[in-house]
Amino acid sequence: MRSSIEQQLSNNHHQRHALLTGSATASIYLALKALGISGKVGIPNNVCINIPIAIKMSGCASIQYIDVSEDDWNIDITDLEKYINSIDVLILVHSFGVVSRQLTKICELCQKHNVPIIEDCATAQGSKTVNGQPIGQFGEVSVFSFGSGKIIDIEHGGAILTNNKSLFNEIVRQNNTLPPYISRNKEIVSALGQLHTQLYNKYYFEGKFALGKDEFLKKLKSITPYFLYQFDDKYSEILNKHLSNLDKNLSHRLKIVELFKSYLRGCDEIEIIEHPINTTYWRLNLRVKKNRDDLFKFLLSKKYKVSSWYPPTNVLFENIENQTTNCQIIGDSIINLWINQEADESYVFQISNDILNFYN
Ligand SMILES: Cc1ncc(COP(=O)(O)O)c(C=O)c1O
Repeated sequence: MRSSIEQQLSNNHHQRHALLTGSATASIYLALKALGISGKVGIPNNVCINIPIAIKMSGCASIQYIDVSEDDWNIDITDLEKYINSIDVLILVHSFGVVSRQLTKICELCQKHNVPIIEDCATAQGSKTVNGQPIGQFGEVSVFSFGSGKIIDIEHGGAILTNNKSLFNEIVRQNNTLPPYISRNKEIVSALGQLHTQLYNKYYFEGKFALGKDEFLKKLKSITPYFLYQFDDKYSEILNKHLSNLDKNLSHRLKIVELFKSYLRGCDEIEIIEHPINTTYWRLNLRVKKNRDDLFKFLLSKKYKVSSWYPPTNVLFENIENQTTNCQIIGDSIINLWINQEADESYVFQISNDILNFYN
């Protein structure tokens, strides 16, 4: 079963070789190790904390945090141009499911400067370019996730794909050095995610994130080895089922998005971020124009699952001032709503009604 899933992934994403891994975090780690990167890694500055965690675990020297473009929230090519000569690899993230409108130009720029791309498809399973080409084929290596909160969510696993045979052999060799998965991995890694969310909700809104940072970094240091492990074969069957149901999963998401659009139409304080054609939605992103923090706290108090990802990532990992203006604007105005299989019409109606009431 496992090798047929790998075959399916490699066919779907037009890469010759595929390996199931413990997580996308492990995939990024393996990609960096196999590519032999030890210097500076470029990433967009509003991403999941696991990306810098994977980079730091791989032993790379530093991270260049790059701003994103205002219109599609993916890497801003003008900002990338500033750093292209100083980075050794680019992690190109299809953030929130969106495929960059500048994808071709970004790939050409990286190729011209011999900067390999690790294409991060963790939150974009099923997305295609405007011309209908599946993602996962634009990097030297591409990575996927099937972990908690992803489009295919089996709470375990990831994948890594490449066309390069010798690189793939090295990825497999590195993966064989990782320990097998134990349930403690999931407990510890998700506890860190929860700590991050708690600290964020406690300090970030008050503009005092420095207060939570030390506690987070200390905890991270003590648990780092738990992030790396191999894929557990017992998840193969359920993964296969979810991959077969991907089209249904994606159309459910689109249906929920359409419902939100109709219920929230006319709410001047909220802009629903529309995705380009052919791209999937990870969560539904709202750009909140007024009282975002109060609305977020109000929705949490009503026990809705909501998040406000992503704030600028460098704030948590570095002692430098954030210079990525658009990432800051996104971090200060975003609310993400759940649109997964749990979401149905009555949930959309209730949460939309509460949002409308909040502003009335
Ligand atoms: C863009 C992106 N890459 C990588 C990861 C890490 O994925 P995993 O949970 O499989 O380690 C995440 C997690 O949320 C993510 O959003």
